[in-house]
Amino acid sequence: MLKKIMAGNWKMFKTREEASRTARELVVAVGENLPDDREVLIIPSFTALKEVNDVLSGQKNYFSGGQNFYPADEGAFTGEVSPLHLKDSGCSYALVGHSERRHVLGEEDDFLAEKVAYGLERQLKIIFCIGEKIEERKQDKVEEVLARQLEKGLKNIISSVSPHELVIAYEPVWAIGTGETAGSDDISQAHNFIRKKLIDIFEYGSDIRILYGGSVKPDNCAAIIGLDNVDGVLVGGASLNADSFSRIVLAGSKTDSSL
Ligand code: PGA
Repeated sequence: MLKKIMAGNWKMFKTREEASRTARELVVAVGENLPDDREVLIIPSFTALKEVNDVLSGQKNYFSGGQNFYPADEGAFTGEVSPLHLKDSGCSYALVGHSERRHVLGEEDDFLAEKVAYGLERQLKIIFCIGEKIEERKQDKVEEVLARQLEKGLKNIISSVSPHELVIAYEPVWAIGTGETAGSDDISQAHNFIRKKLIDIFEYGSDIRILYGGSVKPDNCAAIIGLDNVDGVLVGGASLNADSFSRIVLAGSKTDSSL
């Protein structure tokens, strides 16, 4: 069994000093209590990667990731970073297809498919994000949207991808940054559907981790990660504060102080 991933996506927040401080406070707040079956992932802005990795170096089961990259090693791509830059900055993971990249920055399925394949080739672990918009949910198209995003986004990778390398994050767009979390039934239905698709596509589809994201908080995290086929969480707002992120990291474990 692979470890559950407790990931904090810091988006376009925090100076280097703030990022370093939050990472330090998180490590202290979690202390010796990180359960053996969990890993912590911090995904800061590019400018703070070095500071965060300085704090995390030597910490067992803590990793960092990049929020984005361009599918090339180097070149005339002003404003972009490459997988090699991310690896050079100490990243093990990278996000691809986050809802803000799809819907604010206009990245489409084919481009995301290129990124997934390129990042994996360069030995980055990829967290591929999918999720429906509210109007798609209202039209009863959740499974149709998830199937399309998975089929198109993963079409360039070989079926024997190792479950260590690829992670899926289900993040309903309407639940991101809104305070509105999907209900347990909605999460279960989506995750069970994604699991079925992964088993259809990949030899090791039953082992690929599926994270939930969208207004995860310290008080709803334990219930979410207790669901079948939920192998961790991807957290935005509530990961920006070390106290709240540490409670998410420990949620539902033996050392969860709220139990
Ligand atoms: P949120 O963001 O936790 O603030 O809803 C989640 C995400 O964007 O990954």
